[in-house]
Amino acid sequence: MSGEDIKVWGALETHAECLRNVHLKDLFQEDGNRFDEFSVSENNFLLDFSKQRITTETLEKLIALANEKDLKPWTEKLFTGAQVNASEQRSALHTALRSPQGECVQQEGRNIVDDVHQSLVKMERLVDQIQQAQWRGYDGSPIKSVVNIGVGGSNLGPLMVCDALEQYTSLPLRHLDVHFVSSMDGSELEKLLPTLDPAATLFIISSKTFSTIDTLANANTAREWLLKTSGKSIDVINEHHFIAATGSPKAALKWGVAKRNQLLFWDWVGGRYSLWSAIGLPIALKIGMDGFRDLLKGAHEMDVHFRTAEFDKNLPVLLGLIGVWNVNFLNIHAHAILPYDGRLAQFPSYLEQLEMESNGKSINRDGERLKYRTCPVLWGEVGSNAQHAFYQLLHQGTEAVMCDFITAAKRYESDGEELQHQHQLSLANCLAQSRLLALGDDGTDKKASQYQHYDGNQPSTTIMFDELTPETLGGLIALYEHKVFVQSVIWEINPFDQWGVEKGKKVASSLLVELDEVKDQSLDSSTRGLISYVQSHSKGRV
Ligand code: F6P
Repeated sequence: MSGEDIKVWGALETHAECLRNVHLKDLFQEDGNRFDEFSVSENNFLLDFSKQRITTETLEKLIALANEKDLKPWTEKLFTGAQVNASEQRSALHTALRSPQGECVQQEGRNIVDDVHQSLVKMERLVDQIQQAQWRGYDGSPIKSVVNIGVGGSNLGPLMVCDALEQYTSLPLRHLDVHFVSSMDGSELEKLLPTLDPAATLFIISSKTFSTIDTLANANTAREWLLKTSGKSIDVINEHHFIAATGSPKAALKWGVAKRNQLLFWDWVGGRYSLWSAIGLPIALKIGMDGFRDLLKGAHEMDVHFRTAEFDKNLPVLLGLIGVWNVNFLNIHAHAILPYDGRLAQFPSYLEQLEMESNGKSINRDGERLKYRTCPVLWGEVGSNAQHAFYQLLHQGTEAVMCDFITAAKRYESDGEELQHQHQLSLANCLAQSRLLALGDDGTDKKASQYQHYDGNQPSTTIMFDELTPETLGGLIALYEHKVFVQSVIWEINPFDQWGVEKGKKVASSLLVELDEVKDQSLDSSTRGLISYVQSHSKGRV
C-alpha cells in the first residue's frame, strides 16, 4: 500500500473502533430513515444495505479508499482490454462477450466484438440444427438429450442458469433434456447413461483448455459407452455425438472433435467468467437463442451501470466496498449467500467459485505477501432450507457472519393462489430472518431463558429484483462479477488467475501411478498408509 492508501485505511480502522460496540438496533433507533439513506434502486435491482453496520461516514471513507486504490482507472483497464491478468499476461474481457453489435473493443488490432457476434451466429446455427432435428445421431435419430461435460467454470455457470431459468425453456426446444456431468469419479455418468438413448444423445465437451482430467475422463467414458452400445466406428461417434466448446481447438481435434463440431472462445475469457461464451451453449439449448441474448443484455446493462454510475449509487461498487468493510474492519470472515427462491439453488455454488477462486489470494499484484485479509469463506443454500440447517449458527453461534439475501419481488403471477401464497411465505421469511439477524430480540421477554435469546447484530444486504427473467439473472451475475473485481482492486490482487489449483493436479497425477505400487519412498506416512488401505481393500488384491 502507498502512503496515502495507508492513511485512508488507518482512518477506516479508527472509524471501525468507534462502531465496534454499536449495535445495529441502535443504528436503526438513531435514524428512522436508514433504509432511504442506505439503499439504492438502479437497473431493475434494489440493494438494501441499511442492515450493514455502517454510517454515512463509513461510506464516505470506503469511497475515499476506492478512489485512493484507483478503482475508476482499473475499471477502465478491465473494459478496454488491458492485461489485468498480469500473471498470465492476459486481458479479462468477459464484458466484451455481452457487448452489443456495433461496439468496439480492440485486441491485437481486431475488434473482438465482431468476433463475439460471429461466434453467436455459429452458436445459433447449431441450436437451430438441433431444434429442427437436422442434427442426427449415428442411426439417424433426432437428438433428444444433451449432456454437458465440464467442470468449474465450464459447468457451474451454465448449470446454474439452466436450473434458474427452467420456466423460460424455449417452446421449440421442449423436447430436449439438458444434463450436466462434472464429477471426476464418474458417479453422475453412472446414473445418467442408463437413462439415455445413445443414438439420440449429444455430448458437449466444455473445456477452455481441453486438458482438464475430470472432463476428459468423463468424455472418454461417454464415448466408450456410445462405441459399445452402437457398434459404430469412433469416427461416426465423434462426428454425430460430440461438440466441443473450447479455447483449445487443437487439443479438441486431437481428441476427435472435428473443426466443424467446435464452438470456440478466446484466451481473454476466464473459465469462471465464461458462461457468456460458447460455454453457454447448454443455456441456449435450454432457453433458446433469444433467451440467451436477453441474458447477455441484462449483463451488459449492469456493465454500463458499473462503468458509469457514481460510486455512491453504483451497485457492484457498494456491494464490494461493504464486503471489504466487513472483512477488513469488522473482522467478519464468513459470508452466507441466501437466495429465497428455489430457482437460485445453484447460485451459491456458482458464487463459491466466482468469489473464492478469484479473490482467495494472499499475494498482491507485485508478488508480495499481503498483510491483510482477503476473500472470506463463502457458502450458501436456499434461505428457507438453510433456516433448518445452519441458521442456528447465524442466530446463536459464536461466528460473525455477513449474509446476502436475494429474492424476486413477484412470482407465480398467473399460477394460482396456492403458489402465490408460497411466494409470500418465502418473502416473509426472508424479511423476518434479515430483521432478526440484525436486531436480535429486544430482551424484554422476562420468561425467555438465555437459550432463547438472540443477540442480533449480524449484518446483511438484501438484493431484490422485480422478477427472475433471463435479463435480471444476467444482471445479477454481472453484479457479483464486478463486485469481485472491486474487491480485488481494493486488495491489490489479480482476480483472474488461479495458481492455487494447479499444484494439486500435478500431485494427483504423480500419485495415480503410486496407487498400484508405491515407488516413491519419500511419500509421507499418511499418504502411504492410505494407499496401503486402498490396495488391501481393492478388488483382486490381498
Ligand atoms: O481447476 C480450476 C479450473 O482451471 C477453473 O478455473 C476452470 O473453470 C476449470 O478448472 C475448468 O477448466 P477447463 O474449462 O479448462 O476444463
